[in-house]
Formats: sequence, structure tokens, C-alpha cells
Amino acid sequence: MNLRVPGPTPVPEDIRAAGAQQMINHRGPEFAELINSVHSGLQHIFQTKQEVSILTASGTGAMEAAVVNSFSPGDKVLSISIGVFGNRFAQIAEIYGAEIVKPTIPYGSAADPELIKNELEKNPSIKGVLVTHNETSTGVTNDIKSIAKVVKSFDKLLLVDAISSLGCIPLPTDEWNCDVVISGSQKGFMVPPGLAFGVQSDAALSASKTATMPRFYFDFERHTSYYHRGQTPWTPAVSIFYGLDLALKKMLNEGLANIFTRHEKTATKVRSAVKEIGLKLFAEDEQSASNTVTSVRIPESVDAKRLLGLLRTEHNIVLAGGQADLDGKIFRIGHLGYVEEKEIDEVIEKLKVVLPEVGF
Ligand SMILES: Cc1ncc(COP(=O)(O)O)c(C=O)c1O
Repeated sequence: MNLRVPGPTPVPEDIRAAGAQQMINHRGPEFAELINSVHSGLQHIFQTKQEVSILTASGTGAMEAAVVNSFSPGDKVLSISIGVFGNRFAQIAEIYGAEIVKPTIPYGSAADPELIKNELEKNPSIKGVLVTHNETSTGVTNDIKSIAKVVKSFDKLLLVDAISSLGCIPLPTDEWNCDVVISGSQKGFMVPPGLAFGVQSDAALSASKTATMPRFYFDFERHTSYYHRGQTPWTPAVSIFYGLDLALKKMLNEGLANIFTRHEKTATKVRSAVKEIGLKLFAEDEQSASNTVTSVRIPESVDAKRLLGLLRTEHNIVLAGGQADLDGKIFRIGHLGYVEEKEIDEVIEKLKVVLPEVGF
């Protein structure tokens, strides 16, 4: 099957095999060696000197961790949402008692750093900013470098959801002064779902000392303190650790810069091919179109369900539909992590076959 959703991504054969190894004592020396190796690989991918908390959770767990380790109930938090996952970040903060300030940004657009500047000027009591690096639901990437410059010039905390971008699109955590950056195993890492990661800057670490949102399972400090013993506080997803360790070695071997270039090349190819077919990209400005997932507008004449259904049943290709308000309006092609040119060629070729059958 050609699985082209924006995560979980296909998992290379050797990583799958690594995940099938026998269990070990997660409080023993073998695990200590494993977590050490994974930890240094993750630091490389996050481009950080800070410690990385490794949570057994899906990405949403890391979103929750980012929030509860940074804020207290009643804190004013600026949510920069450009889609479903940005909304989720805000929703988590709101559930834990944050007061959310949320300017409306149309789906398909990236966040304008100038708008963030205006919001921070208008609301001096804002404590931190939530932003999605790569909005998987719309296929748009935010300019975190510029956003971070603005947010840090106001000395606020910047929390970045890099779940569908880390290890695919450049995000040097320390260099850009991001305070909390989170990600998950099932996207750029080419590993099954099950682990999520979070990094805190010194400013975020210091904020967490006074942050009073309730936390236990997702307490970053518990994770980093156990890491010093070569453990995690709770039983970890050991099988995913096995796969991730190999995946990180493969990624380091390929080189981060080469991985970024590969994603850029693949995305450019997908976008050109989609436009050549006569379809329109959902991203308003191609400059901010994502290098990990391409969102395509579904023409009025086309039944989205039939299009995706036929691709799946007749051609073994699985694409993603639109989420929430975008259901039936767009479809999405995932091209992150483990993807080869021939798989993209196949998607394009079969789109050309199926589109006329569904009214295009
Ligand atoms: C940008 C982004 N944030 C958050 C999530 C949520 O992650 P999970 O589904 O692993 O909880 C996803 C998953 O697709 C995502 O792409």
C-alpha cells in the first residue's frame, strides 16, 4: 500500500524489525544505554543542547505537556492558530484554565509576524504564545524564525508544535530561541506512533518552576530527572525506542541538511505536478506551502469521498481528506519521513487516471 497520509508514515523494513526485538528491563543497564543513544540523536534533530523529555504518548500528549509545564490557570496566552492543530493547542490551554487570546487567521494562510506583534502590543499581560510550525490540516508552514524574533522581543514564552515538521523542515530550536518545542515519533522520524518529545529553553525551565497547571504523567521535570538515571518515570514504549534508535542513526547518517533538501525537492515536485494536472493548491501563498504535506483544493465537480475511495480500493493509494471545516474541500498528500520519488510518481499517475472518473 502507498500510504501517503501526513503521519503515521510508512516505516522502513529495518526499523520495523528493530521494533520487534525482545523486551528488556526498563530499569536496567540495557535501557540506560538505549535512552542515552536516543537522547543524543534527538538533541541533534532538535538542534538543541537542552535535555529532551521523551514521553510515551502521541503528539497530543506533548502538546498537553508543553502547556501544563509552562502556565498557571488564569495566565493569558496568545494562540496563533492557522488550522485544526493550532485550535487543539489553544483548546488544551483553555481546558487547563488559561485565558486565550485568539486572532482569526484564514485557513490556508500562514501567520503574519506583524499580527503577532500587534497582539502582543495590545495585550501586555500575555505570558506566552502557542504556534504550530507546520499546520498539517491546511498544508501551511509558519515562519517560526520571524515569529520567534517578535515573541522574544516582547520577552514572552514561545511554544512551538513541530509535530509534523521536526526532522523535515529546518527548526533550530536553540538558535531561533524557541522556548518549548515538541514533536512525535510517527512523522519525520519514520517510526510508529507512541513516543512524543519536548524540549524546554532555560526560560521555559524557569517558568515551569512557578507554573501551577496540574501535571503528573506529563511533568517534564520528572522525565529529565529520570533521564539522569537512564530511565523514564513511567514504563516507556520500549519497542518504539528500539525503532527510534535506528531511525535516528539513519537520519544522522543522511545528514539533517540533506534531509531538509530532500523534503523540499519532493514537495516542489508534488506541487508542480498537482498544478500541472490543473488542480489548485490550498496554501494561499506557495512560499508558505508545506514541505511535508500538500493540500489540494477539491474542484466543485469532484466528489471527494469517491476520489479518495477509488484511489484506495482500485490503486492501493491512501491519501488524507480534509479535517473539520475542510472536510470535502481539500485532500492532502503526505510526503514526509520515509518517502521515495517512485511513490510520489505513482500518486500523480493515478490521480490522472481517477480524477476524470470522478467528474474532473
Ligand atoms: C501539527 C500537529 N500537531 C499535533 C498533532 C497531534 O498528534 P497526535 O495525533 O500524535 O496526538 C498532529 C498529528 O497529526 C499534527 O500534525
